[in-house]
Amino acid sequence: MCAIRVRVVWVRFPAARLNNMIILAIETSCDETGISFINAEQARNGWKVEVKANELLSQIKTHAQYGGVFPMLAKREHAKNLIPLLKNALAKANLIYKEIGANLNTREISRILEREPDLFKLFMEYIPTINSPKIDAITVTYGPGLEPALWVGINFAKALSSAWNIPIIPANHMEGHIISALLTQDEFSKSTFQVSKPAFPALALLISGGHTELILMEEWGRYRMIGRTRDDAVGEAFDKVARILGLPYPGGPEISRLADLWRENSRFSAYMKDNHELLKLPRPMINSDDFDFSFSGLKTAVLYKIKKIPAPSKEIVSAIAVEFENAATEVLVAKARKAIEHFNVRTLIISGGVSANNFIRKSFAELGVEMDVAVLIPPPALATDNAIMIALAGMAEGLGMSRHPDEIRAVGNEELGDQ
Ligand code: KG4
Ligand code: ZN
Repeated sequence: MCAIRVRVVWVRFPAARLNNMIILAIETSCDETGISFINAEQARNGWKVEVKANELLSQIKTHAQYGGVFPMLAKREHAKNLIPLLKNALAKANLIYKEIGANLNTREISRILEREPDLFKLFMEYIPTINSPKIDAITVTYGPGLEPALWVGINFAKALSSAWNIPIIPANHMEGHIISALLTQDEFSKSTFQVSKPAFPALALLISGGHTELILMEEWGRYRMIGRTRDDAVGEAFDKVARILGLPYPGGPEISRLADLWRENSRFSAYMKDNHELLKLPRPMINSDDFDFSFSGLKTAVLYKIKKIPAPSKEIVSAIAVEFENAATEVLVAKARKAIEHFNVRTLIISGGVSANNFIRKSFAELGVEMDVAVLIPPPALATDNAIMIALAGMAEGLGMSRHPDEIRAVGNEELGDQ
């Protein structure tokens, strides 16, 4: 879980684009190190995207002992993993055609990687031994995320940009989550996708470890935040509730697994009915007059409940997991329903790590049918952090948005509006 907050009103102006781009994407905003290569081609209503390589290394095990993500540890792990992942990705994408080195400006690279000595060492051992790959852009997450973690990725992108003379496009992590919901897989090839522009207005509900936001997209590239959590993000609540229930880190998938299992149990309905009063949790802000959320009280309610039960059985823990999922989902659905009505929304996008949750996916699919709105949710593997989503955000930005490397900086908190 990455505790990060953003206040977003990002407006991007149309930029000059290449019709066809090969993009290297780098993701290091939290506890996943991701490297991908995509080939993006402009199509009639969007893009055709071929994923040439997608490497992802999770640091979950490293952080598990601390029960949360430690920024400096995340930074160290990213620094260790970036070169090996790049090496694999280049090979898989077939981008190494000759084993001759690029002509590097070592002094500049050592300046760029001044604060990343481990990465510098690995970089200098490998990059001078290979050719510059034929790619059009490097895209890297600039935020939101954990600043030390973001900086490793950004500095790595800058060093590669210097070594290979390739422009950098800064990518917004949240935009990546949104666009990854617009992918549909080609029926003939597992690695080829279509990215279609949704029917507007579209509403994106971003639910992750650091975010719970409702973003209105009235047109392509225009985002307006209409609601957000006032305290914990929903993924953060999943993780904290899991910890309270004594479940392993990261808690979201674990709560989801337990709750799914319990719902399938033959005694489930009767047990939930008989213990209704004991289990009942609040639905914070469900009727509030805005599109905001609050999940910290829900987490505290679980804490009080569990404290009153000496030696809770597996059944009670599973039943609380279900009731917690019900409560969180009901609030999310209620706020989305209200926003759909208010803004005449035609497409509902659900994305971010928590959208991997089965019960949440099912509940939003039902809402879509009820309200006659198209519901787009990325496949679970693309719902959590990865580098394909960053490549897609870079693709949407286009080369017209590439920046001078010195202008790119990590944005950890609350300042994405100016980007
Ligand atoms: O988007 P993401 O991978 O990283 C951030 O940007 O935060 O989201 C991670 C969050 C974690 O809080 C994790 O517990 C939650 O997503 N998560 C889930 C599930 N899978 C991941 N929460 C509920 N159910 C899941 N199946
Ligand atoms: Zn994320």
